[in-house]
Amino acid sequence: MLIGDSILLTVIVGIAALALAVYTVAWIKMAIIHRPISLLAIRFIDNPIRRLVQPPKDVVNWINIKRGMNVLEIGPGPGTFTIEAAKSVGEQGQFAVVDIQPAIISRLDDRLRRAEVSNVITRTADAAELPFPDNAFDRVFLIAVLGEIENKERALSEIRRVLRDDGILAIGEFLQDPDYTSFGRSIKLAGAAGLQLTASYKRIIHYLLLFRKDQNIRHSNAPTFVDSLGLAAEEQKNRELEPALRS
Ligand SMILES: C[S@@+](CC[C@H](N)C(=O)[O-])C[C@H]1O[C@@H](n2cnc3c(N)ncnc32)[C@H](O)[C@@H]1O
Repeated sequence: MLIGDSILLTVIVGIAALALAVYTVAWIKMAIIHRPISLLAIRFIDNPIRRLVQPPKDVVNWINIKRGMNVLEIGPGPGTFTIEAAKSVGEQGQFAVVDIQPAIISRLDDRLRRAEVSNVITRTADAAELPFPDNAFDRVFLIAVLGEIENKERALSEIRRVLRDDGILAIGEFLQDPDYTSFGRSIKLAGAAGLQLTASYKRIIHYLLLFRKDQNIRHSNAPTFVDSLGLAAEEQKNRELEPALRS
């Protein structure tokens, strides 16, 4: 091998090692400062490597978003999937986005303005308290978000509430996410909220699961605290009745 070649090889390997080190440090930082993800870490999420392994176009196709639909995205972060999905809905449809961090929403607004995408309604809100009426959306999707949500049970039951009876929920995860939620756990959590798995797309470092409402479960989207209040009131009534029944 010529001296020139070996210098070039050393430079290439050096640059690759440096890039890998920077990327790794960013993810370690994100792992430490996560929940919700820091604004610093958000900068690294939408990058060419991720777009190559988890192409937004493929993900949006799997969710089967069509023109004229009402779609909700939860936790858009930098908007990795937002623009692609909003374009698929078109001007006839409605595309809503919620994120728990106001700064994420304001950055996304800027990005959408620059990209001249005008059919997106953005709101700061917690997935566990969605500011939308029942049966409002044909599609709800969240990618690399479930692990970050504090009250996952409540959030999934809220999603079920806003989803139309024939609607689809898509949960995506990316292995590199420090809050990565396993395939099995996502299915279990969604199942407990009355959402049935209907399709899955598994790739080496990411997956997408599609769910429909389990029509046999009618009350699963009632908030837990309402159920427990109801039960507590029932128990209290029984306790009051008990002495009268005994005598
Ligand atoms: C890791 S980022 C994922 C961003 C984007 N979906 C992606 O895959 O590139 C997670 C996002 O979920 C948001 N998030 C976390 N907890 C949330 C909650 N309870 N309700 C709504 N958004 C939440 C965060 O603020 C952040 O924007």
